Amino acid sequence: MAEIIDGKLVTQVTRKKTAEMTARFKELTGVTPGLAVILVGDDPASAVYVRNKHKGCLDIGMNSFQIEYPKETTEEELLSKIKELNEDENVHGILVQLPLPKHINEDNVINAISPLKDVDAFHPENVGKILIGKYDFLPCTPAGVMELLAFYNIDIEGKECVVLGRSNIVGKPMSLLLLQKNGTVTVCHSRTKNLADITRRADILVVAIGKADFVTADMVKEGAVVIDVGINRKPDGKLTGDVDFNSVKEKASFITPVPGGVGPMTITMLLANTLTAAQKQVKIY
Ligand code: GUN
Repeated sequence: MAEIIDGKLVTQVTRKKTAEMTARFKELTGVTPGLAVILVGDDPASAVYVRNKHKGCLDIGMNSFQIEYPKETTEEELLSKIKELNEDENVHGILVQLPLPKHINEDNVINAISPLKDVDAFHPENVGKILIGKYDFLPCTPAGVMELLAFYNIDIEGKECVVLGRSNIVGKPMSLLLLQKNGTVTVCHSRTKNLADITRRADILVVAIGKADFVTADMVKEGAVVIDVGINRKPDGKLTGDVDFNSVKEKASFITPVPGGVGPMTITMLLANTLTAAQKQVKIY
């Protein structure tokens, strides 16, 4: 029976640390770190995430600027707002909630955010820095996974790490972070053949494919560490991950639950990135 990785506990500990560092930063500089979050349209899940980001900022003593636009907003209007925020010295981090309405080109939006304020680490400049291991920010979800592994003293060096999913937001950066910690990394995806043969090799299995309860016990090695990045809503309204928690927990050594595993860490890492951005932008550092 696996030990359950408690994302809420790690979130509490990490946010307390970030709150203390934020208070110290404010004392030293007289500047309050500020995060601007832009939401375009009325996707209900996005609205919840944005509200939680706002609350997260206020709870740890940061400023939060919430900008909400109707779904008809043009790309030009959005780009012009980003330009204004890039130049606003009260704003240290900028996040545009994805997905955007279809008529807005996501790449143009990401490219418009100043790399110094790109607390999502989605800008190609920041992605490139991660590739070469010399980064200022890490994307929040993979960074949250690394925090969880560190908190539970789970060693990565020399381990067989298998990442299921190759998205720009999770799978690709996740594989780079594990590689940087000297893991032996395999990335699997929807075209991978003999998937279970590969996942069964994993000492550390990170799953981010967006399919409810996809990973079953027969796909997992005895004693593996299983990290579930998925959030799926079942027909009964309950949340479930990409891993069949009940069967896999009997075989794994550590496992993250959904909810309460990786999810809470994402905003925690966003707040940490916002503090880092402020530290880089304010002269004393
Ligand atoms: N939508 C879902 N996850 C994310 C994220 O990490 N950042 C942004 N900007 N949008 C998202």
